[in-house]
Amino acid sequence: MANKSRLSHEVTFLLLYLTCCEIMHCDGFTVDPPKDIVISDPGLLGYLDITWTSPASLDDIAECQILYQVDYFNTYKNSWSAVRTPRRKYSAQFDLMKDIRVRVYTLLSGPCTNGTLVKSTNYTEVVQQPLGTGITGTAIQNFICVYHNMIYMECKWEQGPKMPANAQQKLYFWYKGLEKVEECPKYLISNGYRSGCNFTGISLPDFTNIIFCINGSSPKGPLKSTYTTLQIQNHVKPETTETLYLKAGPDKQLELHWDRPVGRIPRHCLEWEVEHNKEGPDGKTALEKTLTRQINLTLPFMHNMRSCFRVRSRLHKYCADKGFWSQWSHQTCSTVMTAAEPEWDVVPAFVCIAVAIIATLVLSLCVGAALHVRRSKREKRPESLLASLFGRNSIS
Ligand SMILES: *[C@@H]1O[C@H](CO)[C@@H](O)[C@H](O)[C@H]1NC(C)=O
Ligand SMILES: *[C@@H]1O[C@H](CO)[C@@H](O)[C@H](O)[C@H]1NC(C)=O
Ligand SMILES: *[C@@H]1O[C@H](CO)[C@@H](O)[C@H](O)[C@H]1NC(C)=O
Ligand SMILES: *[C@@H]1O[C@H](CO)[C@@H](O)[C@H](O)[C@H]1NC(C)=O
Ligand SMILES: *[C@@H]1O[C@H](CO)[C@@H](O)[C@H](O)[C@H]1NC(C)=O
Repeated sequence: MANKSRLSHEVTFLLLYLTCCEIMHCDGFTVDPPKDIVISDPGLLGYLDITWTSPASLDDIAECQILYQVDYFNTYKNSWSAVRTPRRKYSAQFDLMKDIRVRVYTLLSGPCTNGTLVKSTNYTEVVQQPLGTGITGTAIQNFICVYHNMIYMECKWEQGPKMPANAQQKLYFWYKGLEKVEECPKYLISNGYRSGCNFTGISLPDFTNIIFCINGSSPKGPLKSTYTTLQIQNHVKPETTETLYLKAGPDKQLELHWDRPVGRIPRHCLEWEVEHNKEGPDGKTALEKTLTRQINLTLPFMHNMRSCFRVRSRLHKYCADKGFWSQWSHQTCSTVMTAAEPEWDVVPAFVCIAVAIIATLVLSLCVGAALHVRRSKREKRPESLLASLFGRNSIS
């Protein structure tokens, strides 16, 4: 018991010592933070380069490795992110509409620190406020992008409340791997203003942050810029399902199925919502919704019920964090099913078969009757001949 607690005390002490060592200094050994942090903008919509120089006190330390820790406020995650690098440069994506905060520490390890990792007590910090240029009230609002059936993307926005007349807006975009910022290939216009962009003919990468900037100029001065970032796989809106097929299955079941949209959406990525509207003979309706990843649904049919269906689809959460529902398909209904025989307006086969059977029956009856009439006529003829003969004979 005593041994165990002494051991755990030792472990705690060791951990404390190590933590102390990393955060502060070992045996009075201290490291200075780096100097001269510079944040420069290469014009890639907020992908900024951070550079710094090593502290003068480390100029003649040869046998130790110098590392730097860059802490920066990640405005997309709304929290601090940290990276360690042996280089004196780091690039990260920032939201140019918000404050940029960067802190850099120096880390030292090797024989000069007796093998422990020593981190500078202090950091060098840079806080840069957004430029904030542009006429207030001219920033665009409600920027929404929809990736239609994974074929083409369309982004739309609304004008700010103080848009000056004759303003000209522009949309620029960039993502890692694109050499330079590009402009919208085809603007959408409404009420004389640019109100969106059709990225037709441009293939944007998925699972990549794409940065958009909407800025512009007007006779009164520059408009306020807006920056947004998104990943296109989270903006997919599948095509509307065109046709639903409804038929009677075996064992008095209703079978509903539909087609997948044609396009680039992987088969396993879609899920469907089936809306089933049941209307009873008393006019009462009940709505039932089913989520499925198959393109069919089998339901038991209900007597005296009119069933109506429509479906819509979206990307399943295994394939994207979010997405848009497609539009609802047209509605397809079965007619009222009576207790006796189900009747379908979608599947008139039953009616056809019934009509065919009746027609066959009627036809065979007709044919039978005709044959019967003919035969009786043929039998009658000799009889009447004989009769007339005999008649004549008897007269004569
Ligand atoms: C490394 O350890 C030696 C002996 O244990 C000590 O003399 C020296 O001051 C230590 N150096 C540092 C940087 O802690
Ligand atoms: C840390 O650095 C800041 C300037 O970057 C300075 O104002 C502050 O006094 C320093 N703190 C310590 C404990 O050296
Ligand atoms: C955008 O481009 C696509 C493909 O070229 C086209 O089908 C669509 O109608 C366009 N959208 C608008 C709003 O013009
Ligand atoms: C809008 O942004 C682009 C890309 O950063 C830039 O080249 C252009 O000069 C800006 N235009 C205005 C009017 O600010
Ligand atoms: C739906 O169709 C799949 C084949 O595409 C089939 O395996 C499955 O049994 C059907 N499910 C229902 C409920 O009809």
